[in-house]
Amino acid sequence: MTQTLTRRRFVQLTAAATALFAAGGKAQLWYAPSLTYPAVKVANLSQVKTGQPIIFNYPDASAPAILVKLGRPAIGGVGKDRDIVAFSALCTHMGCPVQYEKGRFICRCHYSMFDPAKAGQTYQGLASSWLPQIPLRIDGKGDIYAVAVAGLIWGRVKNV
Ligand code: FES
Repeated sequence: MTQTLTRRRFVQLTAAATALFAAGGKAQLWYAPSLTYPAVKVANLSQVKTGQPIIFNYPDASAPAILVKLGRPAIGGVGKDRDIVAFSALCTHMGCPVQYEKGRFICRCHYSMFDPAKAGQTYQGLASSWLPQIPLRIDGKGDIYAVAVAGLIWGRVKNV
């Protein structure tokens, strides 16, 4: 029997995996492991400053994303302080660009707000889905790579 991964099921699986990660703290599989994502270098640790977002694209050129060092530990955070995170920059309500401001992501179209320390949880506004988080890895030289997307990027039926 062939099964397809519907958008609803994908979101459910991702939310469950994210909750598992949040509950366990050290769980490894907190994003869909069956999709093949590229590893894309975003920056080096030497370039990352607290509160100063770095804009990049992931997993392809039409998917804007933001990396930021929060200055406080975050779910999925990397680096010695576990505070470097990245997210899709497209609001999950209607796809407007979000901006990092005062420790949160904000969408000025309808004022949704997302918490980057809590895996992109929405806590205000019209967006009902969390902002998709982009898991990061750091190599021995301090280069930071985007390696997946936890959640569905707005406007897509699949991320890759
Ligand atoms: S598009 Fe972001 S809140 Fe509506």
